[in-house]
Amino acid sequence: MPAARRPAPLQQKKNAIVLGATLSRWTMSYFAAALIAFLAAELLMTLGYGYPSAPVESASTLVLVHLVVLGWLSLLMCGALFQFVPVLVARALYSDSLPLPTLVCLIVGLAALLLGFLQMDGFVSTVFAFFPAAAALLAIGFGLALWNLGRTLWAARPLPLPARFVVVGLCSLAATVTFGIIFTLVLRGVTDNPHLADVVANGVPLHAIAGLGGWLTFTAMGVSYRLLAMFMLAPDLDSSRSRAGFYSGTAALAVAIGGGVAAICFAASLTLALLAAGLLGLCALVLYGADMLRLYRARKRRVIELNSRMAAFAMAGLAASVILIVALAALGFFAQHVAATAFLVAFGWLSGLGLAKLYKITAFLTWLECYGPVLGKTATPRVQDLAVERRAIRWFFLYFCAVWAATAALLLEMPMAFQACAGLMLIASLGIIVQLVRIRRLLDVGVAMRLPPGIRMPQLLRCSVQHD
Ligand code: HEM
Repeated sequence: MPAARRPAPLQQKKNAIVLGATLSRWTMSYFAAALIAFLAAELLMTLGYGYPSAPVESASTLVLVHLVVLGWLSLLMCGALFQFVPVLVARALYSDSLPLPTLVCLIVGLAALLLGFLQMDGFVSTVFAFFPAAAALLAIGFGLALWNLGRTLWAARPLPLPARFVVVGLCSLAATVTFGIIFTLVLRGVTDNPHLADVVANGVPLHAIAGLGGWLTFTAMGVSYRLLAMFMLAPDLDSSRSRAGFYSGTAALAVAIGGGVAAICFAASLTLALLAAGLLGLCALVLYGADMLRLYRARKRRVIELNSRMAAFAMAGLAASVILIVALAALGFFAQHVAATAFLVAFGWLSGLGLAKLYKITAFLTWLECYGPVLGKTATPRVQDLAVERRAIRWFFLYFCAVWAATAALLLEMPMAFQACAGLMLIASLGIIVQLVRIRRLLDVGVAMRLPPGIRMPQLLRCSVQHD
């Protein structure tokens, strides 16, 4: 049982940073919905649903892809941004009531999109127009998220560097959703505009780059600048190198998305636009990698916590993805193995970072909710007393090893081995989720300090700040 203590000075400083911002009420609900989609996707992969047992462009693969990128990664990112954009810009969220309708639209819209994919392949036989319904609901859901986060950011200009990464990430989200809506409307036959038909025929790589590269990766990069500095007690970086990374990444996305659409509409070379964007993107990632190394080296907290150690594994996944893409492209095998690289980006980098940060954020928000109101008035546990790292670490190791083995299985075209690895990923994820629930229910805090007078057990899915 941890000894009763008041927070150490560094801990107090860190808490003060976050206490400056209010708790986002629905962030835990976003995390819960995201984790359910994550488990569902891993279960489907374990059962051999979608690629590699079915072609990349099959309805089952499209279901799997969107369960991961929208159900898991986008809900996780939206929930995290509603909490952390206010921390990044030291301002309250524009609206604390919009995230709930946003979440409902996104979940129902995702369900309609998945049913639309199944309908496309004849697995669902009703005549209901699932694709247009999905397009409308996802446009409203993401539109509300963009409006809420956009208004918060706009009011805080001039923005610090991490927040500028988030702005570019949000613009990429708008582009991804626009491509997605065009795809659904053309595939359903709602429009036969020849330019839009060209975008559907050639634009899937642009949609994937805007989503995985712009919305998810660029936003994660921005948030990681702030979160890693905060959790490792390292100085915030805003050097000329960081800004060069930001500008080359932004230029890469502009060339890929803007240049790509122009190339499709004017029948110019899409490969050329993607090559130029790839070189700029490579530059941005190298500069980001150098910055992250600097953050780890400049940290004041010598023994770093599990979330920062696991974030390093996720960043290694990003570096491995870049090396793999460059090597496959140089050898002329990229098209053949594009799914393996997308898998490594989605599970090794984005999901790995997401799980690592979830572990800390869940503890942090729960601590803030339960002990923030009585801080300084009574003895409270530290944030790290809410979690037992030595229990969680084995699930994280299993997760990362399984992802790397699954990527190798995809590259070596061994579908059964891939399914076995997906099963291990599922077990590891369940292990991590059990730890998250334990944190939220304060199960690892000693009984004597668990609930100071006047403090209630936090709800699993909703954050509320208690006042005395
Ligand atoms: C983070 C967001 C998103 C990402 C990363 C993403 C990624 C992808 C990827 C990688 C594919 C190709 C998959 C394959 O060929 O197996 C794809 C296809 C597709 N996506 Fe998305 N997507 C996202 C959001 C959306 C949204 C919001 C919609 C709908 C409103 C949508 C609708 C579609 C459709 C209809 C296709 C099939 C296109 C075709 O086969 O011609 N996506 N997406």
